[in-house]
Amino acid sequence: MHLIETRDLCYVYPGKVTALDRINFIAPRKARIAVIGSNGAGKSTLFKHFNGIFRPTSGTILIRGEPITKANSREIRKFLGLVFQNPDDQIFSPTVEQDIAFGPTNLGLDEETIRHRVHEALSVVGIEHLAQRVPHHLSGGEKKRVAIAGVIAMEPEVLILDEPTTGLDPKGVADLNSFINSLSAKYGMTVVFSTHDVAMVPEVADYIYVMDKGRVVACGTADEIFVQPEMLRSVRLDVPVLPRLLRALRDKGVDVSMAYTYADAEAALLRAFGKRS
Ligand SMILES: Nc1ncnc2c1ncn2[C@@H]1O[C@H](COP(=O)(O)OP(=O)(O)O)[C@@H](O)[C@H]1O
Ligand SMILES: [Mg+2]
Repeated sequence: MHLIETRDLCYVYPGKVTALDRINFIAPRKARIAVIGSNGAGKSTLFKHFNGIFRPTSGTILIRGEPITKANSREIRKFLGLVFQNPDDQIFSPTVEQDIAFGPTNLGLDEETIRHRVHEALSVVGIEHLAQRVPHHLSGGEKKRVAIAGVIAMEPEVLILDEPTTGLDPKGVADLNSFINSLSAKYGMTVVFSTHDVAMVPEVADYIYVMDKGRVVACGTADEIFVQPEMLRSVRLDVPVLPRLLRALRDKGVDVSMAYTYADAEAALLRAFGKRS
């Protein structure tokens, strides 16, 4: 049984805009899944089906093998935390601390547990220093972290992040990458995220869905997806710089193996130059 599964999921917005066209998507336990696609591909619309905000126009969505109903929707929102693309859709309390406490308070947890969870969440996303600030006055990247902390504090088993790197500075993106990897490695959390920034994808994804115009046009691992430059260009995406560079070197006769992450690319280049890593 998969944590999330969609079967021929279609969604049509009022006004007959087809945003999702027969999406078959699977999130197995403990996976890190990237959904990549340019603006308007349908990523946010798909994610809003995962916790029942949207209902399919046709097709099926199953969470832990079951359809979303009125009876289980509360349970599903506890199990599956969705961080919206725009943090302003998610943040509304007078202080950061209160905002992060909102979800755990709604779960009916006792005060001590709430305090503990808020503290943990602030620390996991590295914003302890913002605890007493007014969320409204924070920068885009800071708000993004607050929104993520608010969902983390609910301790979901599945974390869904819609364009988490938007508004983050380079250090913020690097932190986010290690944060996603540690959630998966340390806590066995399943993470699904969307982006059009392909550079981060090999570092944080076991499996990739490529979306365009409401369809899944390809899916596979980094070494299956990032060897298809024409396909990626046709959907206004690109191959990340490291595999692109290694491919170019190989095409010019350099005996270097392909690699997708920074660590693997460094090791491959050191080997090619006869150095030990
Ligand atoms: N509220 C809406 N009403 C009508 N069409 C919408 C609405 N929201 C999104 N769309 C359309 O649905 C498609 C998918 O949008 P979206 O899921 O936001 O894509 P992405 O998140 O990949 O950028 C786009 O064509 C977009 O214009
Ligand atoms: Mg979106």
